[in-house]
Amino acid sequence: MRAVVIYESMFGDNQQVARAIAAGLIEAGVAAEAIEVGTAPTALGSDVDLLVVGSPNHAWSMPRPNTRESAEAKADTPLVSQGIGVREWLGSASLTPGLPTVAYDTRGSHPKAVVAMDHASKSIEKGLAKLGGTRLVPAEHFRVAGMEGPLEPGEAERAHAWGVTLAGLLTGRPGRSQA
Ligand SMILES: Cc1cc2nc3c(=O)[nH]c(=O)nc-3n(C[C@H](O)[C@H](O)[C@H](O)COP(=O)(O)O)c2cc1C
Repeated sequence: MRAVVIYESMFGDNQQVARAIAAGLIEAGVAAEAIEVGTAPTALGSDVDLLVVGSPNHAWSMPRPNTRESAEAKADTPLVSQGIGVREWLGSASLTPGLPTVAYDTRGSHPKAVVAMDHASKSIEKGLAKLGGTRLVPAEHFRVAGMEGPLEPGEAERAHAWGVTLAGLLTGRPGRSQA
């Protein structure tokens, strides 16, 4: 079984989540890699059994060129994603019909009611469905403490455990995270 986690990240938080998800998948026996969206292939091979796609929330949705510029203006170091984002990738990618897909996003620590509104991950889910993917589970959200992070305590571990869960759903062998 092979999984690909494609992520967009400005300050490194989403990248950290993507890597933790991939590590959880690997721990549970799925060959997985986390790929920054600017270097991700737009045509995924038929050997890919699961596609996970994540982006930060920017202005209640996936990043756009102008929100990336805003992020760049706030950043002390170069942004992780400097080319296209998930929005653009979804606009040009092709998937094997029916490929299991999952979305996630990173977002600020809002009250539950706001989090329940869903944002970027809902758009990613729609984009993946439009490409012919089949949603494996509802999207997950990971919280950051401030605009530039860091991740809230326990979120990297939760991402790892989610990777283990996804692997279990894929292989039919529910695993237990050792994170
Ligand atoms: C321009 C901009 C707009 C943002 N808008 C939102 C928002 O609408 N909702 C939210 O929860 N977080 C918002 N954030 C916070 C980001 O979600 C947070 O910076 C991101 O998840 C951190 O991940 P990263 O380090 O991988 O970029 C925004 C951040 C930036 C830079």
